[in-house]
Amino acid sequence: MKSTDISNKAWAVWFTGLPGSGKSKLSKLVYDMLADEGITCKRIELDTIRKKYATNPEYTDRERDLVYKKLVDFAAEKVQNGINVIIDASAHKLLYRKYARKKIQRFVEVMIKCPLSVCIERESKRKKGHVVSQMYLRALERKQKGSKFEGLGKVIGVDVPYEENPSAEIIIDSSKNSAEQNALTVKKALLKYLKPK
Ligand SMILES: Nc1ncnc2c1ncn2[C@@H]1O[C@H](COP(=O)(O)OP(=O)(O)O)[C@@H](O)[C@H]1O
Ligand SMILES: [Mg+2]
Repeated sequence: MKSTDISNKAWAVWFTGLPGSGKSKLSKLVYDMLADEGITCKRIELDTIRKKYATNPEYTDRERDLVYKKLVDFAAEKVQNGINVIIDASAHKLLYRKYARKKIQRFVEVMIKCPLSVCIERESKRKKGHVVSQMYLRALERKQKGSKFEGLGKVIGVDVPYEENPSAEIIIDSSKNSAEQNALTVKKALLKYLKPK
């Protein structure tokens, strides 16, 4: 094997998209499908990292910049140690995903497209107590009427834009087809990207 051959090296796949776009759902399904093929990986959710570095999260730009840096550094360390990684995190700034691309040699971006209205609809059905329960509806009310909501930080898709990457390796629209069908499409595309050259 040539020393430049990276086919055996670990990789990272980032599921990115608006809150409610289906990152967790899709990445869990893909994780299971890969496991069925004997491919193991570690799923890393932003919320787990956030709990560690922001005990009382305020969801400010500064806090997000820090938490995303920690997330990428953690993922890169895992990959460095030969562990495949699935990242489940919105990453509304392109910069966060660019940083991961810079730090991780084998990197695939799965961008989940989903109209904001669909995300809002899905999110409004979440159980009370979930981290984003009623988040969009409150953010919209705040924006339109100036209402105040204790502890509600800047909401992606309402207060801060989600930056799309038209060059992402895999782009999937989660408002079309079932989550299972989409997961299968993503898995197939992923294996194509990750197969030895
Ligand atoms: N393709 C899909 N079709 C229908 N519902 C979906 C789809 N993907 C996700 N959902 C549902 O939408 C909600 C939000 O998905 P989730 O994966 O939690 O989003 P995120 O992790 O991006 O915030 C969940 O209730 C999930 O079951
Ligand atoms: Mg999620």
